[in-house]
Amino acid sequence: MGDYLLHQDIEQEAHADSCGMASAHDVPASLPLPPAPPSVTGGRPLLTRGEGHYLFLEDGQRITDGCGGAAVACIGHGRKDVAKAMAKQIDKFTYVSWAHFDNKATRDLADWLIKSTGGEMGKAYIMCSGSEVVEAALKLAREYFVWIGQTRRVHFITRDDSYHGTTIGSLSLSGHVSRRAPFEPLLMRQRHRISAFHPYRQRLAGESDAEFVGRKAEELEQQFLELGPDSVAAVVMEPVVGAALGCVPAVPGYFKSVQDICRKYGALLIFDEVMCGMGRTGTLHAWEQEGVVPDLQTLGKGLAGGYQPASALLVGKDISRLMESQGRTFTHGHTYQNHPVVAAAALKVQQIVQDEDLLTNVRTQGAYLQLQLREKLGSHPNVGDIRGRGLFWAVEFVRDRSTKEPFPAGMQIALRVQKLAQNPPYNVLLYQGQGCAGGGSGDHVMIMPAYNVDSRVIDEIVAGLSAAVEAFFSRVCQVQDEGDQRQDGLVL
Ligand SMILES: Cc1ncc(COP(=O)(O)O)c(C=O)c1O
Repeated sequence: MGDYLLHQDIEQEAHADSCGMASAHDVPASLPLPPAPPSVTGGRPLLTRGEGHYLFLEDGQRITDGCGGAAVACIGHGRKDVAKAMAKQIDKFTYVSWAHFDNKATRDLADWLIKSTGGEMGKAYIMCSGSEVVEAALKLAREYFVWIGQTRRVHFITRDDSYHGTTIGSLSLSGHVSRRAPFEPLLMRQRHRISAFHPYRQRLAGESDAEFVGRKAEELEQQFLELGPDSVAAVVMEPVVGAALGCVPAVPGYFKSVQDICRKYGALLIFDEVMCGMGRTGTLHAWEQEGVVPDLQTLGKGLAGGYQPASALLVGKDISRLMESQGRTFTHGHTYQNHPVVAAAALKVQQIVQDEDLLTNVRTQGAYLQLQLREKLGSHPNVGDIRGRGLFWAVEFVRDRSTKEPFPAGMQIALRVQKLAQNPPYNVLLYQGQGCAGGGSGDHVMIMPAYNVDSRVIDEIVAGLSAAVEAFFSRVCQVQDEGDQRQDGLVL
């Protein structure tokens, strides 16, 4: 895969000077400003500019973007060529309801996405957020079984410590303990859990890849049998688990065994590639490295690199063919589905990724990032694991390296490391997460720079991160050694 061509109509030569968007300074003085949002971090700093790998705050601080926000800014900030592509579309028309009209930008993006899968996928629905497309995948899986007369299929199997979105359906599929907690009574009862796949924490002493995979496959099959195999609609998984576990790939053979079980019992396999897809792990689609093609696939984040809120649901060729042969229409739709400006931005971002051969850079710089992380942090007493793929890496913190004991969740270690690193003298933006040790505890930070990063910027990111980690834990450990119970109150 990778040799597909972008439609030539999506051109660089648009001549608009700006996107014509209002700035915060255009708010009339007479309008009351809304209150600042509440924040556990005590208020968020005001960002004034982004350029390439750097973010600038109102007080002049320059921060190196080590995480693209939430693995979103995959070509960096402030690209004028994307702004021009969007302006060109806005010049033609800005919004049409998909129920009335088709539009070329969306059609081109959908065609390009389908081609990018080597024809494995047959349809693409363009939406705005990851949660929307996960919700859509859940509904399409259900509707597919209604179309083929298997109406008993209502159950979804997903893993602990996974994240699939914030809406009720997508949150129901998620295993993220703290994000689910307040809403538990509202979540779908048709979601069933199996354990996460987390080699660092779960592999038994001396267990081979094949034995580990076999143990996990048995657990999944058992879940099918308990539910009644003909009642399962789909298994939903992230090929490389993102925020919930911190960049955890599976071992070879795992997804093949999952797919075999799905096929055996007639259920669909849905891959949620909202975070790990669109090149983040070194191939455009994360499943390319697993040798497994899902029946439905979700995309988001890196699709438009943050220039517009873009996401997509890709539909496997078998389901697409059935829809066409039976004249089926998916009973689903959002007002902003198929938005032409969203599609124009996404297509331009993908054109840049392709023209600048950025997937090769993801693999090359990813290897360098891994080396640097291991060299600078690999022997730190509070670093338990360093893992990832491509430019998708995480560092997991532990209280005790030999036992892998996590810090108590209440200490909010990852959040505090992130906060410290973001401030002078470190000036590096990281993405923090909690829950990677199960049950809501376990801390990690994620490093997910843009695909056009070079080794100089990686050096800056790793230097800032390792200095912040050093400073943070030397104080935490010092306080622990002194038996001081005020650890949680440490202001770092
Ligand atoms: C794997 C995965 N799926 C779904 C989502 C939800 O996407 P969004 O926040 O755009 O709704 C996320 C967001 O982080 C994600 O990481």
